[in-house]
Amino acid sequence: MENTLTVNQIRLKFLDYMREKGHAIVPSSSLVPENDPTTLFTGSGMQPMLPYLLGQPHPLGTRIADSQKCFRSQDIEEVGDNRHTTFFEMLGNWSLGDYFKDEQIIWMWDFLIDELKLDPNNFYITCFAGNEELGVPRDNVSAELWQNLFKNKGINALISDTPETGMKEGEKIFYYGVKKNSWSRGGHLGTAPINDPCGPDSEMFYDFDPSTEHGYHAKSQFKNDKCHPNCDCGRFMEIGNNVFMEYIHRDEQIFEKLQAPNVDHGSGLERWVAAIRNDADMFNIDVFDDARNVLEDLSGMKYISDISITYTDLKNPTFAYRVILDHVRASTFLIGD
Ligand code: SER
Repeated sequence: MENTLTVNQIRLKFLDYMREKGHAIVPSSSLVPENDPTTLFTGSGMQPMLPYLLGQPHPLGTRIADSQKCFRSQDIEEVGDNRHTTFFEMLGNWSLGDYFKDEQIIWMWDFLIDELKLDPNNFYITCFAGNEELGVPRDNVSAELWQNLFKNKGINALISDTPETGMKEGEKIFYYGVKKNSWSRGGHLGTAPINDPCGPDSEMFYDFDPSTEHGYHAKSQFKNDKCHPNCDCGRFMEIGNNVFMEYIHRDEQIFEKLQAPNVDHGSGLERWVAAIRNDADMFNIDVFDDARNVLEDLSGMKYISDISITYTDLKNPTFAYRVILDHVRASTFLIGD
């Protein structure tokens, strides 16, 4: 039976779960950041948390969670594929020098697999491979924690060091380098702004075509490359990111350890709903229903859900639908804020 949980229901469930784990729930900040001249829009849940990630005490304690409205103008050219939007809600929880990898990884598994009932066979993980030049070691701890959680479900999750050469049977956990598996406000560790917190991350992916029967990879422009979780063919969708913010970028290649390491978890609420529905087209989720229906009435054209369409298919009506659906939603929230 199709799981029909809505965006509103999942937001509430996540916040209730985090409240039970001792987090204070804070409201979303505005899309137009206050007291932050470095950026025009709020693009991630951690942005309003910046002073606290750097060590200033948060008035509500060391465990905070929210659902943050985000606008990422840098993603605008990617809108048109099955999963990119400029506006989205980021479910987030933060440990401000409190818990670290153990709790975070176990809670993510517990919530996504045990509460939301995502099939663990379709769940994939990426971890940081380490970088000698930057002096940041490989994140074996996270990989082993995830591996044990798979094991508890009877899944022997193999670990791969070479995702780009293709996935082998049984591989579920993949090591990637700095660009894919580290995070800072500038992108990754290598582009972290000076005096910003940053760290390796462990990302969670959902496989929408485990038996390849839909042919998402084979029909995509990436068909001549090997498929792996970070392939852009549409088979896999990144559904969340756990950043283990234990560094502050001091200078060039100097990453100093923060006094107490933080967790910065952010997941795309809309992507969670797509995964729960087991439908790779994020534009089919409930928040787009009304606007999609209006567009169908006005245009006399049905929305055709097609995973192979990307932002390069400018003349395809599915591309046009997705651009309008995203931009109308984003504009509405931007005007509101
Ligand atoms: N800051 C990380 C991100 O935006 C996780 O919250 O992906």
